[in-house]
Amino acid sequence: MSELAILGGAPAFPEPVHVGRPNIGDRDRLMERIEGVIDRRWLTNDGPLVHEFEQEIAELLGVPHCIAMCNGTVALEIAIRAAGLSGEVIVSPFTFVATAHALQWQEITPVFCDVDPRTHNIDPARVEELITPRTTGILGVHVWGRPAPVDELARIAGAHGLRLLFDAAHALGCSTGGRMVGGFGTAEVLSFHATKVVNSFEGGAIVTADEGFAEVARLMRNHGFADYDDVAHVGTNGKMSEVAAAMGLTSLESRDEFVEANRRNYEVYRAGLADAEGVELIAYDDAEQCNWQYAVIEVGESAALSRDELQRVLWSENVLARRYFYPGVHRMEPYRTLFPDAGERLLQTERLAGRVLALPTGTAMDPADAATVADLIRRALLAGPELVRELRAVS
Ligand SMILES: Cc1ncc(COP(=O)(O)O)c(C=O)c1O
Repeated sequence: MSELAILGGAPAFPEPVHVGRPNIGDRDRLMERIEGVIDRRWLTNDGPLVHEFEQEIAELLGVPHCIAMCNGTVALEIAIRAAGLSGEVIVSPFTFVATAHALQWQEITPVFCDVDPRTHNIDPARVEELITPRTTGILGVHVWGRPAPVDELARIAGAHGLRLLFDAAHALGCSTGGRMVGGFGTAEVLSFHATKVVNSFEGGAIVTADEGFAEVARLMRNHGFADYDDVAHVGTNGKMSEVAAAMGLTSLESRDEFVEANRRNYEVYRAGLADAEGVELIAYDDAEQCNWQYAVIEVGESAALSRDELQRVLWSENVLARRYFYPGVHRMEPYRTLFPDAGERLLQTERLAGRVLALPTGTAMDPADAATVADLIRRALLAGPELVRELRAVS
């Protein structure tokens, strides 16, 4: 067995292995669709591929309305605005920064609620204490595709007259209690960013059962245009292009294959890390639908290396494992300046942000690669004092 690269051996992978390397799908189908876009000279604005993509997503999730957008961030901004949110909105700090930025961008204050250390999602027991007369909504996030506590949040929102939205960027094709993500709250927001299980290069969507809401979101997506020369609402440009929809449709067609690749890699990680002291692979509920998009480990106190040390070992092997979501949104600007003491009441988020590491998966990686990554982690944990000395000497 060769030496770990950080101790002078050759890297296990000759090229960098990334988290979130895109799934491509059937290249010929994609090219055919793009040819069609060009032949029609219909590049954007309510094109047929965007329509088809919206229908497919709505059907998959069992929701009546899907409004495709240029990306998930703009879709979040539009959903927040269409929901009439203002003042303060309660949100998780353990998420991609876009969740909070979509509020702050519109001068709405994100009020960070600590997470449940088991689920990594907003802890419903901590939500009510954050409600003030300025609170207008709750923005839940289904982190890693593990659904947020949708029923508890709906109960709290209902009891206090708050709007409930979900950032479902990670959760396409995931379910809770047998119900698909997409139908919870007033609306949910998807991302089809290149890194997501289904991608449209860049893309996003609002899904909702609320017809009036869908109507407003649709107007907002296209500068408020209700018809030629008829602007009925304030709006922006949130439109998805036809080429993006071509990729989205192609990607959707291969979704089962992508999910299967994720699952296979996940199972390899599960087996390979089962006895790795202090390292735990986050679990998904086998009884639910899941996209297995994220293979995430928690590196605990009993591990021989800290999370950051383990990350350095992996990076030296060309395994670019990521510290999602470090250091927590509350420690990023402008929130760090606005709420300098937030960490004092976000103890679980702080702890989690120090332990979590996302491992590469997806179709760009085969199970043998996942086995190599798991093996590297085990070897790093067992490497003993020489490795720890090396890591601590250069840090
Ligand atoms: C939880 C979460 N919310 C929102 C977004 C933003 O989506 P987009 O990149 O499509 O703008 C992302 C990531 O891309 C995300 O992971």
